[in-house]
Amino acid sequence: MSDNNTPPVKDWATDYDIFDSEYVRDPAPIWDELRERCPIAHTTRWGGSWLPTRYDDLQAMVRMVPALSSRSPTVVPPSPELREELIREAKEYSTENPPITADPPEQIPYRRLILPFFSPKAVAGHRQFTLAICNEMIDRFIDKGHADAAADYAQQIPPRVIAHVIGIDPKRVDDFVKWTRGILEIGQLQPDMRIKYCRIIRSFFEEMVADRRQNPRDDLISTLIDADIDGKPLSDYTIVGMCNLLLVAGIDTTWSSIGSALWHFASHTDDRRRLAKEPELLITAIEELLRFYSPVTMARKVTQPVSIGDVTFQPGDKVLLNFPAANRDPSAFDKPNEVVLDRKRNRHIAFGVGIHRCAGSNLARMEMEVALGTWFSRIPEFELACPDAVTWVGGQVRGPRCIPVRFSAA
Ligand code: HEM
Repeated sequence: MSDNNTPPVKDWATDYDIFDSEYVRDPAPIWDELRERCPIAHTTRWGGSWLPTRYDDLQAMVRMVPALSSRSPTVVPPSPELREELIREAKEYSTENPPITADPPEQIPYRRLILPFFSPKAVAGHRQFTLAICNEMIDRFIDKGHADAAADYAQQIPPRVIAHVIGIDPKRVDDFVKWTRGILEIGQLQPDMRIKYCRIIRSFFEEMVADRRQNPRDDLISTLIDADIDGKPLSDYTIVGMCNLLLVAGIDTTWSSIGSALWHFASHTDDRRRLAKEPELLITAIEELLRFYSPVTMARKVTQPVSIGDVTFQPGDKVLLNFPAANRDPSAFDKPNEVVLDRKRNRHIAFGVGIHRCAGSNLARMEMEVALGTWFSRIPEFELACPDAVTWVGGQVRGPRCIPVRFSAA
């Protein structure tokens, strides 16, 4: 049995399990084998899905719209009964969390509404706040000489920053983290938990929207209340769904990337020393770590028969957009399984590609830059304190959740 109480995988090409402990710890050797032997693998586990591993196939699949639809982008679908319940709740609204759950043309105006909040200029306005958070977190543990780089640091930054961007109380950060984990970690394998936390987030934002209707502010929620699409104002259901998406998408993803980067430097002394000595490498190093430890896999639902290579997807099939595996494809990257901090050519697709490409990538990059830059300026010497205690989660978002490190401060 694997760690999640399912039978062990016999053949990764026909029976893969993205929650198998071997896959969660290090999926790259499995992708390498599949890319050669069966570049689009299949499984009947977890509701059944297809798993592409080649860069060119991913580039082609994101363009197969609407044959590969975003209406249900979660990696593990809810049970048919829960799905029905969600659809009933959504009533007349055609999409739950736009733009990520919508296809064009419907998706386009929703995306346009949120992009200005994540432009380089808007993101620059959150830099000082992010810097202050990073320093405050390090102040809490620096004198101890040890910390959990995931729980005490990486996990603390994105929830506060996205709360700042949306205009909600950053002091509720523990709730935001709990709800997000409820959806993206626990909720992956326990759909009833996912629904429970979705409802908690929705009711939190319902209150926020009601409050802003009474007391408008100069913030994202008030902007969405004032916005219209083709002259029609957005419903509360839609505004709540958009806020829900921004909160969840802004937290797990970025904390996983900051955590993976710190894990890398804590366990690769040469790279850590090099970055400490050459801080000007930080920007290219971040792109390389995004490529190497790409956290996000999204899914698409097939709406009409469509073929790629030898495979034909049928309506109802699920396809996992395995951006992380594409980023290790030797046909797209020289030495794909090595971290090269000063890699010159790096056209990674960690933020996805095409019409749904990450709307928050400027924010994520700023958070990584400030989080890693601040850590290295104050704690340039650090290492794993207990390698066996490191834990990873996988599935929709992969990243480390416990990274005990010890250090001497700068
Ligand atoms: C390192 C951190 C992050 C990574 C790796 C990442 C990755 C991704 C990926 C792969 C997609 C494409 C989804 C698809 O094709 O279905 C996506 C979409 C999205 N991301 Fe991120 N993301 C990150 C951080 C953020 C942050 C900080 C935000 C801010 C709220 C954010 C907001 C969004 C939104 C709104 C979408 C949907 C865009 C659309 O459907 O048009 N992400 N992200």
